[in-house]
Amino acid sequence: MRALTWHGPHRVKVENMPDPALAAPDDIILRVTATAICGSDLHLYRGKIPGTHHGDIFGHEFMGEVVEAGPEVKAVSKGDRVVIPFVIACGDCFFCRLQQYAACEKTNSGKGATLNRKTITPPAALFGYSDMYGGIPGGQAEYVRVPKANTGPFKVPDTLPDEKVLFLSDILPTAWQAVKNAEVKQGSSVAIYGAGPVGLLTAACARLNGAEQIFIIDHNDYRLAFAQQRYGAIPINFDKNDDPAAWIIEQTPGNRGVDAVIDAVGFEAKGSLTETVLSTLKIEGSSGKALRQCIAAVRRGGIVSVPGVYAGFIHGFLFGDAFDKGLTFKMGQTHVHAYLPDLLNLIEQGHLTPEEIVTHHMPLEEAARGYEIFEKRQEECRKVILVPGMSAAKATL
Ligand SMILES: NC(=O)c1ccc[n+]([C@@H]2O[C@H](COP(=O)([O-])OP(=O)(O)OC[C@H]3O[C@@H](n4cnc5c(N)ncnc54)[C@H](O)[C@@H]3O)[C@@H](O)[C@H]2O)c1
Ligand SMILES: [Zn+2]
Ligand SMILES: [Zn+2]
Repeated sequence: MRALTWHGPHRVKVENMPDPALAAPDDIILRVTATAICGSDLHLYRGKIPGTHHGDIFGHEFMGEVVEAGPEVKAVSKGDRVVIPFVIACGDCFFCRLQQYAACEKTNSGKGATLNRKTITPPAALFGYSDMYGGIPGGQAEYVRVPKANTGPFKVPDTLPDEKVLFLSDILPTAWQAVKNAEVKQGSSVAIYGAGPVGLLTAACARLNGAEQIFIIDHNDYRLAFAQQRYGAIPINFDKNDDPAAWIIEQTPGNRGVDAVIDAVGFEAKGSLTETVLSTLKIEGSSGKALRQCIAAVRRGGIVSVPGVYAGFIHGFLFGDAFDKGLTFKMGQTHVHAYLPDLLNLIEQGHLTPEEIVTHHMPLEEAARGYEIFEKRQEECRKVILVPGMSAAKATL
């Protein structure tokens, strides 16, 4: 089969790889019909995630058709059209029963990223996300093996095209969890750091949950403009305003700050040259630029919700400010499975139209170019969908 593989920082290519085979009785093999490139893939692409090897197949946002099912698979059968959560969960452990699927203690043979883990189990395995998360081949490929197929695969109606439901695999539930964690409700004010795919869908979900005032911060004007036009967000370009939090606070009643902030940027946040250099040298675990802004912009008693991925330690983390302001922090990988039925309903009813963020449909064969334009923010790229077997002539911008 053809698959996207990694060969060192910024070097990926589509090449022939062996077809996947069933390895456990509850596995399925999926023929991928659509797969997307995620901001989380960019961390891997840049070589920032340990345990990534030459020849690894990336991709954790994908859907397709079941072409083979192991003897113990009861939940889906050959021919079903399904979306696959990027988190691999057993469905039956302590955490799965709490619907905390990203903490599933049965699927990850790796160590996860907790530095001071002691004897605690690692978090759930993830597709295409390094040895730390199980070394499971990803779905930017023609075919993919899906473990725990009685729990993960989520059937979607034929009436909805791939691009409408593909993001159920990751970024839509991620945005939803970020907004739920932030307790956004009718009349809330919220600031969203990052206007990438996650930040944009977070704006959509915040609006749907009744947010009245949405600030969005980035330095890609075209992404900010989309958030403003489509979701009525107030854009702030941090290249032009180097302290967005100060300005946001001035726009809120009583200069109190916003009810909640959402960090949809993560550990590669730009804006502090020192931190970028220190984290490249591994003296710093993550750039704390976006997180510091979040802690500053939120009101006393407010919530900081963090869907952006962080790793290791941050020296400039103002824990004292968080204490003094009485903040609540909620964060982590998304418990994807928990949100799928509700989100599918919202898509079917037309309340959520996540496909609107897509700018590029490309053949899987052109995945390397897809990574490059998404990473370099070329061609006003917001989100790339890769389609195995699609002819170059059919690709659309
Ligand atoms: N928690 C989860 O389960 C989960 C799921 C999906 C993605 N993620 C993470 O969410 C984050 C965003 O993903 P994405 O697909 O939108 O990625 P992306 O890289 O396309 O978007 C990130 C955006 O943040 C902006 N940015 C950089 N520094 C900033 C700063 N200091 N302030 C404000 N904005 C800044 C960038 O310009 C970019 O537009 C990534 O860290 C990704 O790994 C987490
Ligand atoms: Zn992702
Ligand atoms: Zn489990």
